[in-house]
Amino acid sequence: MTQKPVLWITRKLSDATLERASRDYDVIINHEDGLHTADEIIAMSAKVDAILPCHSEIFDASVTAKLDSRVKIIANHSVGVDHCDLNALAARGIVVTNTPDVLSDATADIAMLLMLGAARRAVEGDRLVRSGEWDFWSPAFMVGKQVSAARLGIIGMGRVGQVMAKRARGFDMDVHYYNRSRLAPDLEQGAVYHETVESLLGIADFLSLHCPATPETTGMMNTARFDLLPDGAVFVNTARGALVDEDALIAALDSGKVAAAGLDCFLTEPGGNPALSAYSNVFMLPHIGSATGETRNAMGFRALDNLDAFFAGNIPKDALTTV
Ligand code: DGY
Repeated sequence: MTQKPVLWITRKLSDATLERASRDYDVIINHEDGLHTADEIIAMSAKVDAILPCHSEIFDASVTAKLDSRVKIIANHSVGVDHCDLNALAARGIVVTNTPDVLSDATADIAMLLMLGAARRAVEGDRLVRSGEWDFWSPAFMVGKQVSAARLGIIGMGRVGQVMAKRARGFDMDVHYYNRSRLAPDLEQGAVYHETVESLLGIADFLSLHCPATPETTGMMNTARFDLLPDGAVFVNTARGALVDEDALIAALDSGKVAAAGLDCFLTEPGGNPALSAYSNVFMLPHIGSATGETRNAMGFRALDNLDAFFAGNIPKDALTTV
């Protein structure tokens, strides 16, 4: 009988994923679900043929340089791969894959939740009722910003951005976008293309980020860019914390340039930014954009599909590096 490849699953994935993985691979599973240090990742690499990590495991250049040559593929359980140095991994001959498509719906749902919650003061309202301090009502009370028919700017019109646009059209929003390249009309669905981020920001009463974190996009929402937004804009980030200069966001909240924000991603994760906790006009979630049972299964299965293809001698569908 041929030996099954040894696969390290670095976190507690869905039961269905673990069951399928255990059937097809000789698995090492982190049932305790703790985070791993760089040294632990490097040590484990000598014992396995493949790694199925989440975005919580960092494969930067220094870790990658020390990975054992036994590891042939890193099949990520994430669409974002900013935790992987793709060039360094390719240079080591390691194939890297991700899980696009399958989390677009769930992530766009969370972006809508954050946008609505920020605009309609969900944090303040929830606190008021929950604390028992809700003892009055007035037409001037907790007035928020209307989402329907407002202008939404989307930065990054890839898979998640396009689903976000679809959701927003359901709210009669006027959708505008910036993307590195303009979409074909059937994908645009009437959304207005802006050739520069700056042009988009000028009209974005609501702004939602849906682009990956790369060296080019890191810190893209800085003071100068927040300043370009219309006064009282609502800012939403479900993509990556690295896209945002959080000090600049806080200054924009202080000045009223940004009236409210909805954030699922932070520069420091886990943990977030304690300075933002003081702002009841900031609706925050702990990076749960893709956290539904259905999506977790789909992500796990997509990662396993990529592994199966690789060990069958094929190029995995979601290969980001080929060797
Ligand atoms: C992703 O897939 O990139 C999500 O952020 C969860 O890791």
